[in-house]
Amino acid sequence: MSGTYVHGYHPRENERLQDQAGTLVELLHSDTTYPSGSLVLEAGCGVGAQTVTLARRSPEARFMSVDLSADSIAEAKRRVDSAGLTNVEFRQADIFALPFEAESFDHVFVCFVLEHLSRPVEALAILKRLLRPGGTITVIEGDHGSTYFHPDSSAAHAAIQCQVELQRKAGGNSLIGRQIYPLMVDAGFEAVRVSPRIVYVEMIEGVRESALAAGLIEPESFDVGVEALHRTTEADGVFCYTFFKGLGEKRDA
Ligand SMILES: C[S@@+](CC[C@H](N)C(=O)[O-])C[C@H]1O[C@@H](n2cnc3c(N)ncnc32)[C@H](O)[C@@H]1O
Repeated sequence: MSGTYVHGYHPRENERLQDQAGTLVELLHSDTTYPSGSLVLEAGCGVGAQTVTLARRSPEARFMSVDLSADSIAEAKRRVDSAGLTNVEFRQADIFALPFEAESFDHVFVCFVLEHLSRPVEALAILKRLLRPGGTITVIEGDHGSTYFHPDSSAAHAAIQCQVELQRKAGGNSLIGRQIYPLMVDAGFEAVRVSPRIVYVEMIEGVRESALAAGLIEPESFDVGVEALHRTTEADGVFCYTFFKGLGEKRDA
């Protein structure tokens, strides 16, 4: 298990993930579809932000979506039901103790989950065991070190650094995107290829309380930093962030 999950489970946080997923759909999903009849494991589905897109884009595939959080699963199920999708089954489960036989799945999809795990290679190796030979894994992660913007602001960088630090303290790694390739190779995947995808995204404001409680930054400095980040979303501003999408294959049993 990964320890404390730094983004939390607040409704506002769920909304943020949902909005973020909405704008990222094309960027992250445009090259992911699964063949008719294939069985796909979505590990760490959260509130279903990716699940709805996955199931909609591959209506003839079947999805088994798991997450540690029962509340998130309940919300994900609501979203999938209200989207009229019938090709998804949900289970509450820990990636490190999944209730599935080896080689049960044709494909695995993992998005924004490894960043929260203290043992990401072990998690990937577990997922690999669940793939049948010839199956693929798709891994998507962000990297907070990839953030740059205009107007630039040292206070904004400090606010972002708070999230990096909080996630590190919780056992995760918000700079994991750049490591997707070596992590997948270390876990034994073959034909690994990773593509960077750049987008605007805002995800720092939500860590204010935790950052202050952890004594990482003074309230005034944090607020100045967040304001500077908001400023980058105005007409003359630019905010860039890179997601990394990796694809790997399991060739042998
Ligand atoms: C940032 S959310 C991403 C959710 C979803 N994949 C998405 O892209 O919107 C990370 C999810 O990983 C789940 N998670 C963290 N550790 C887990 C574990 N050990 N086993 C299963 N799920 C886990 C959390 O409960 C959370 O729902």
